[in-house]
Amino acid sequence: MFTDRTISLVKATVPLLQTQGEAITTHFYRLMLTNHPEVKAFFNEAHQASGTQARALAGAVLAFAAHIDRLEALSGALPRIIQKHAALGVLPEHYPIVGRCLLQAIREVLGEVATDDIIAAWGEAYQALAGMLIAAEEEVYRANEQQPGGWRGARRFRVARREAESELILSLYLEPEDGGPLLGFTPGQYLTLVLNVDGETVRRNYSLSDAPGKPWYRISVKQEQGGRVSNWLHAQAPVGTVLEVLPPCGDFVLKPAPAQAQGRPLVLVTGGVGITPAMSMLEAAAPTGRPIRFIHAARHGGVHAFRARVDALAAAHANVEALYVYDTPRDADRPHATGFVTKELLAQALPADRDVDFYFLGPKPFMQAMYANGLTLGVPAQQIHYEFFGPLEELRAA
Ligand SMILES: Cc1cc2nc3c(=O)[nH]c(=O)nc-3n(C[C@H](O)[C@H](O)[C@H](O)COP(=O)(O)OP(=O)(O)OC[C@H]3O[C@@H](n4cnc5c(N)ncnc54)[C@H](O)[C@@H]3O)c2cc1C
Ligand code: HEM
Repeated sequence: MFTDRTISLVKATVPLLQTQGEAITTHFYRLMLTNHPEVKAFFNEAHQASGTQARALAGAVLAFAAHIDRLEALSGALPRIIQKHAALGVLPEHYPIVGRCLLQAIREVLGEVATDDIIAAWGEAYQALAGMLIAAEEEVYRANEQQPGGWRGARRFRVARREAESELILSLYLEPEDGGPLLGFTPGQYLTLVLNVDGETVRRNYSLSDAPGKPWYRISVKQEQGGRVSNWLHAQAPVGTVLEVLPPCGDFVLKPAPAQAQGRPLVLVTGGVGITPAMSMLEAAAPTGRPIRFIHAARHGGVHAFRARVDALAAAHANVEALYVYDTPRDADRPHATGFVTKELLAQALPADRDVDFYFLGPKPFMQAMYANGLTLGVPAQQIHYEFFGPLEELRAA
């Protein structure tokens, strides 16, 4: 795919990228968002402010440079990027913009070290990676469009119902304005809303929180302090509001237990609003008879969403067992445990052989702890699954 010279020039920059990668991507975002307002609407400002967006891109660029002579080693990382791009509606015409800004950032941050030869090699490498992503993203768009109820780009949905799930989480039931059928989805996937908030276009992802196969899509949104879209949805999207919605995407999905392990338990561990995709998984899996441990951590009962529904599912299905853990319970609260979801608590909830499918989602410290707990308790690494409500982050640091 690449000449030996391109490979050696790109690989030669790996040590530099290791030290300067984040400076390059931070500069890259500044260049791109200042000079190309047409792509600004795709990028979440909060993720730039926290640095998570730049770190995710720097990580991908670094991994790509390090593996340029054996790109198959990257195959595990690409599906998430492809799904994220497809969810947000990234198009082929956006790639040259990103490419030009990335090369300019590499040149300006590295200075004289970035010779014309190095920049040319990076240009060639970027084009190859972009070509792979563009082709894979087109596959997703085509598949979404061709399935029953499918579509490409934005489709108009009406807010048909609003329901408070806790003091902070509100469910919105979305029905297509055209009255047509709905594309199916796999529990764990999410929608992207394209909204105009205060005259500016913004995009946000929201997990589907109900089972597939309903005549609506349900999303459940936590009101974030200072958050633009979540507050707009809570305060300014009454029943009847029309929203532009991109098709369901995402590779964090509930996988059926393998044929030889049909009874393998499903463990869903969530913190706060991380409960949303787990609700969809629980709704779908409860009637199958598969053993399910649904473990949810909340600060207290006031912010514990979906408790009544999970209790009802546990009452109706003997295979479902719920465990609620509050770290700052109120007087009237009745959690099963107080404090955090510790390794000891998980050790008791999991079967002794640890042969479970372990899904988790919550705030970053919670995720770091669940990842470490899952591994140290002996859950097989390939049976551990997680999602981030933002750019991918490193969990191994814990
Ligand atoms: C795959 C996926 C699924 C998701 N599913 C759900 C879900 O089911 N439910 C849900 O509620 N959320 C979900 N999210 C999160 C959701 O997409 C939004 O990120 C969330 O609603 C916050 O958006 P916002 O516009 O309200 O907040 P933002 O405006 O993006 O702000 C978020 C936080 O950052 C702070 N902030 C904003 N801008 C800056 C700045 N420039 N400098 C410093 N701080 C800043 C804000 O004060 C706020 O605290 C999901 C995200 C992903 C990626
Ligand atoms: C070869 C080129 C590209 C690479 C290697 C790349 C890589 C990445 C990576 C690693 C992520 C983080 C995924 C995650 O959260 O796990 C990401 C997210 C994203 N990418 Fe790209 N990308 C490329 C091109 C583009 C282009 C052309 C656009 C066009 C607008 C784009 C827009 C986005 C957006 C909006 C996000 C989400 C950011 C967020 O959540 O804040 N990317 N990309």
